[in-house]
Amino acid sequence: MSSQTEAAGLLKHYLEQRQVAGQTHVGLRPGMVNRLLHRRGLAPQTQRVAEIRPVRSAAPAAGFEEAAAPAAAAMLSSLKAATAPASAPAPTRPAAAPAARSRLEPTILEVPGSTKAEKLAALAQMAEHSPEARALGTLRETMVFAVGSPDAEIMFIGEAPGSEEERQQEPFVGPAGQKLTGIIKAMGLDRSEVYISNICKFRPAMENQGWSNRPPTPVEMQTCLPYIFTEIAIIQPKILVALGKTAAEGLGLSGPVSKLRGQFYTVQGLPTMVTFHPSYILREEKLADGGKVAKRQVWEDMLQVMEKVGLPVSEKQRGYFKK
Ligand code: URA
Repeated sequence: MSSQTEAAGLLKHYLEQRQVAGQTHVGLRPGMVNRLLHRRGLAPQTQRVAEIRPVRSAAPAAGFEEAAAPAAAAMLSSLKAATAPASAPAPTRPAAAPAARSRLEPTILEVPGSTKAEKLAALAQMAEHSPEARALGTLRETMVFAVGSPDAEIMFIGEAPGSEEERQQEPFVGPAGQKLTGIIKAMGLDRSEVYISNICKFRPAMENQGWSNRPPTPVEMQTCLPYIFTEIAIIQPKILVALGKTAAEGLGLSGPVSKLRGQFYTVQGLPTMVTFHPSYILREEKLADGGKVAKRQVWEDMLQVMEKVGLPVSEKQRGYFKK
């Protein structure tokens, strides 16, 4: 097969996936085609592939990021429409996301395997080779998938791996991860009994990166959303916990965490709690009250989670971080 034919096949597959995700137009830089070819071990194109607009093209597409951004925003906002609080919020709560089903459903990938573990392993391989994420060129090389039990009742979802996660290729093993492990222990559980994953499977790249991290952009998140939604579909936990604003956003729940937390939403049919990211607790701990308020708020959210999944809650646990 010529590299031109191979490129056309890859692009067709890519565009079909984007179309399924509801994206209406895509602009392709020549560099992206070359990257796709390079990943297949084929010679790069010398000829410029300027633009491919597969469906209902609305606006000229200057480059992938620019072209994808509105589509990503549309997808994220329609995911918001596909989620709703699990029960009617109290009047003081923020306005609920509309209950109407979106025309865009979260993409669930078809994954080979007969057991959950086999399916997750296959999905991790798909994420590792994700053409969309790799083609962006704004995410780092190492893919960090997930850790924990395929039979977990509680699934924690964070933002994206940081430097330590990238080094160990395991989510939440750096300072924020140690905080999360402490929270899980306080719930009477071990890390191996829950499932821990991230919205974005790659550490977002930065100039002069060092130890620095940044949240994934909507476009970066969009490339990884099918993986997290497929993980949820495979594991079928009793409950989801979104750690921080980015994770909530990826699941279609937008707004400040301070407003979202403390009540259940429905994501993919599952009760979903949004709470502060453990790194927020780390920041708050440096302040005058030692982060007592933040810790108590997160703990109250976790008490709700424990009750919802039917975990026993002792009086001692109920009293943690109370003033
Ligand atoms: N923060 C996250 O959101 N995820 C990680 O895996 C580590 C830190």
